[in-house]
Amino acid sequence: MTAPSLRARKVDGKTQQPIVALTAYTMRMAQLLDEHCDLLLVGDSLGQVIYGLPSTIPVTLDMMINHGAAVVRGSWHALVAVDMPFGSYEGSSEQAFASCSRVMKETGCAAVKLEGGEAMAPTVRFLTERGIPVIGHVGLTPQAVNTLGGYGARGRGDAEARKILNDASAIAEAGAFCIVVEGVMEELATKVAREVAAPIIGIGASAQCDGQILVTDDMLGVFERTPRFVKRYDNLAEQISNAAKTYADEVRSRTFPSADETYRPKGA
Ligand code: KIV
Ligand code: NA
Repeated sequence: MTAPSLRARKVDGKTQQPIVALTAYTMRMAQLLDEHCDLLLVGDSLGQVIYGLPSTIPVTLDMMINHGAAVVRGSWHALVAVDMPFGSYEGSSEQAFASCSRVMKETGCAAVKLEGGEAMAPTVRFLTERGIPVIGHVGLTPQAVNTLGGYGARGRGDAEARKILNDASAIAEAGAFCIVVEGVMEELATKVAREVAAPIIGIGASAQCDGQILVTDDMLGVFERTPRFVKRYDNLAEQISNAAKTYADEVRSRTFPSADETYRPKGA
């Protein structure tokens, strides 16, 4: 899977085969998800999901590089994209190129993702013209939580909806090969998917998009606080807790380890 092949899924505003994307932060999870996905995103959501941070703001380039390299080692089919963390790309196109080229060299990923609309379009053009495939991210952009004032759905009013549509168009025209649209009303998602040439990958953005992404820990039911747009496909938190409880009970009752798990001389 390559950036051009994902971009080519959408022809004349239509996508025959929706893009399937999930987040991954570790090698083994990447191995398990890879064959089912077109795109694995090493999201900066790892700040909350893996590190227990209050937002994605404190996530560092080193964290993204370490997890990015692990995910690349676990994938052979899906395209691996790495999120650029807050503060690593917004200052200038040159700063963005320095950070993104480090991510690509040190992880082996095939693309990067960065948040922002029209204001980031010159940076997106700068990167793509220099060999770095870029995924955009507009609408609810979690790195802007402090200016947005929270994680509520975006584009409720006409003016904000127009701005988000404009942001997606600007990023696509600047060369982004696909764009994540997060937390927007269905009506706006429909317009964005119809009017923007690049594939639109939705999260909390209705079924009108050209593909979907979810945070894997959310859809597996590992992470407990999830937004309304998450569908839980499993309840791993309960399964993990049950396994730990059974283990604890068996250790306390001295039923684990049994003979099966014990080294003894043959025939003893
Ligand atoms: O950080 C992340 O996981 C993301 C996706 C959910 C789009 O940006
Ligand atoms: Na992100």
